[in-house]
Amino acid sequence: MEITLKIHNLLEMEKLASKIAKHLFPGFVLGMGGDLGSGKTTFTQYLAKHMGIKAVVNSPTFTILKIYQNHLPLYHMDVYRLEKIGYDYELDEFIYGDGVAVIEWYEYIKRMLPETMFSMDIKALSETDREITIKGGGVYAEIIKDLSH
Ligand SMILES: Nc1ncnc2c1ncn2[C@@H]1O[C@H](COP(=O)(O)OP(=O)(O)O)[C@@H](O)[C@H]1O
Ligand SMILES: [Mg+2]
Repeated sequence: MEITLKIHNLLEMEKLASKIAKHLFPGFVLGMGGDLGSGKTTFTQYLAKHMGIKAVVNSPTFTILKIYQNHLPLYHMDVYRLEKIGYDYELDEFIYGDGVAVIEWYEYIKRMLPETMFSMDIKALSETDREITIKGGGVYAEIIKDLSH
């Protein structure tokens, strides 16, 4: 299943995050693609907020992984620095874990990721307009159907 959505501002980005937050489950794998500044971290911040996480969520670029304990934990990864290496097996327990794994620059570690996952590729069309392509199979396809209306 694949859909492309256009959003026009931060408020619509937050609405999308709140819709997706309702469908999260333990083991949910969410890959985020798109250039620097497209909104991957911003989306994750809204997602965390709607998961009930009170902590400040900021970019894990230098640490690769940040853990937010919660009834449904959030494992926020930014694997930009793994571009050349392509994997980091220490991340395995978080990708295949009991929380939600959000992975910025997921395409860099594609070989570590499950075949069935949820992905969002964001393209900046202007300062605030974004085109978001969302893909997913299996259980994720049902969620994507729900997002399209
Ligand atoms: N509709 C939008 N969705 C997401 N971010 C937006 C939007 N409009 C403006 N922005 C701004 O774009 C920037 C995105 O940065 P960030 O989330 O750090 O991107 P990335 O993690 O992809 O590098 C932020 O400053 C954010 O406020
Ligand atoms: Mg980021």
